[in-house]
Amino acid sequence: MQTTANRFQPGFANTPETDPTPLHVEGRFPDWLSGVLVRNGPGTFDLKHTRYRHWFDGLALLHSFAFADGAVTYTSRYLHSPAYHADMASGRISFRGFASDPCRSLFKRAMSLFTPTPEGMNANVNITRLGDNIIAMTETPMAIAFDPRTLETLRPYGYDDGREGTERLQGSVTTAHPHYDPSRRLAYNYLLHFGMQSRYQVIAIDGGTRRRLASIQTAHPAYIHSFGMTERYLILVEFPLVLPSPLTILLGDKPFIENYRWQPERGATFHIIDKENGSVAARAEADAFFAFHHINAFERDGEIVVDLSAYDDARLIDELRLDHLRSADPKITTGRLRRCRIPLSGGRATYETIGADAIELPRIHYRAHNGRAYRFAYGAGTRSADADFLNQLVKIDTETGAGVVWHEADCYPGEPVFVPTPDGRAEDDGVILSVVLDGAAGSSFLLALDAQTFTEIARARTPVPIPFGFHGQYFDL
Ligand SMILES: [Fe+2]
Repeated sequence: MQTTANRFQPGFANTPETDPTPLHVEGRFPDWLSGVLVRNGPGTFDLKHTRYRHWFDGLALLHSFAFADGAVTYTSRYLHSPAYHADMASGRISFRGFASDPCRSLFKRAMSLFTPTPEGMNANVNITRLGDNIIAMTETPMAIAFDPRTLETLRPYGYDDGREGTERLQGSVTTAHPHYDPSRRLAYNYLLHFGMQSRYQVIAIDGGTRRRLASIQTAHPAYIHSFGMTERYLILVEFPLVLPSPLTILLGDKPFIENYRWQPERGATFHIIDKENGSVAARAEADAFFAFHHINAFERDGEIVVDLSAYDDARLIDELRLDHLRSADPKITTGRLRRCRIPLSGGRATYETIGADAIELPRIHYRAHNGRAYRFAYGAGTRSADADFLNQLVKIDTETGAGVVWHEADCYPGEPVFVPTPDGRAEDDGVILSVVLDGAAGSSFLLALDAQTFTEIARARTPVPIPFGFHGQYFDL
């Protein structure tokens, strides 16, 4: 096993499961907080005979913080995916991952990315509710349903298009960031089909059934981690991190992302897709940039406003390799809030940077403001340009650019989840929940901030350090 020397090494260390454990609370979580925060992320980085190469590839470990009367109980359980069983049994990587590949004798490429089932399904990125199911998701289409109370793995979650004469949608890559439109009672996602003519398919999801809303052909598919949504439109941004030839991913044996190349001369392209009929309402070119995460989007005065956590290039992907993150002196770049304007009448997209603070893993008051005008974005960020990892939380006022931060020495907070106060009126009336790694103490705590003042109201230390994860959701169960 590799030795590490930096302050946040427990964030990338193998972590055991924790049986339900009541946590000691300093301060007080709101009495109205009575649901569960479920988070997803990698929990095993080193196998007996090898190790994963990238943060995005560790085996999924689910975490829950269940609230009741100001008390909080913590539980963690590994997601029992095919990858989990195969890799733990063999001590080796069995399926192609984002940036890790199996040893050749075990290579199951044809079974991992390019057939609907079976695949590794190391669904370590996000969590969402689809119909009555809570599912863990990654960027391959198959998800895994689990019980949000016990975190017990239930079953692979497949969509049922293809039954009763309906078309079975083909595609190998999706996002772990579906949007939900309550007015249409539909979820949306995108599905990339590789081929001589690859196509981005924008899909509507009704219960367990997917329907293709739009199909956009491309010779050089871009890596797209999330997309935007307004009340009427979906926004797909092609960044210039592209597959020069889709054949390399179909026939080659490199890890997924290593097939992509940064080609800034291509610029970025915004596709604005009408949710009503799937037509492309506008298409706009923009200067080259990269983003993992859309923050929000809305319609205003004949244009679409699209906010993202933006980077000048895609070097962050390499900076998140475990060799780098476990080195003595790692550095990472962090995104800035980029507000892009796409004229519906045609023309080039323009942008401005909002605020002085870096922002990544962004969240908003989703239920009330997703797709609509909004004011506040929350995220994790870096305190200085030479930061070693995400080391502060930030709240950015998108109207004024003003930023408020939460920071504590040697602490590394994760994605801040906004939970609105029941019957709250203000956009920021609620709490922020973030899992923080305390590098000095070698432990973690769940932090609650008043979302309006960004000041601490409670923290609850966990019995083991919690490795750095990606995304989580709060559910009222
Ligand atoms: Fe993400």
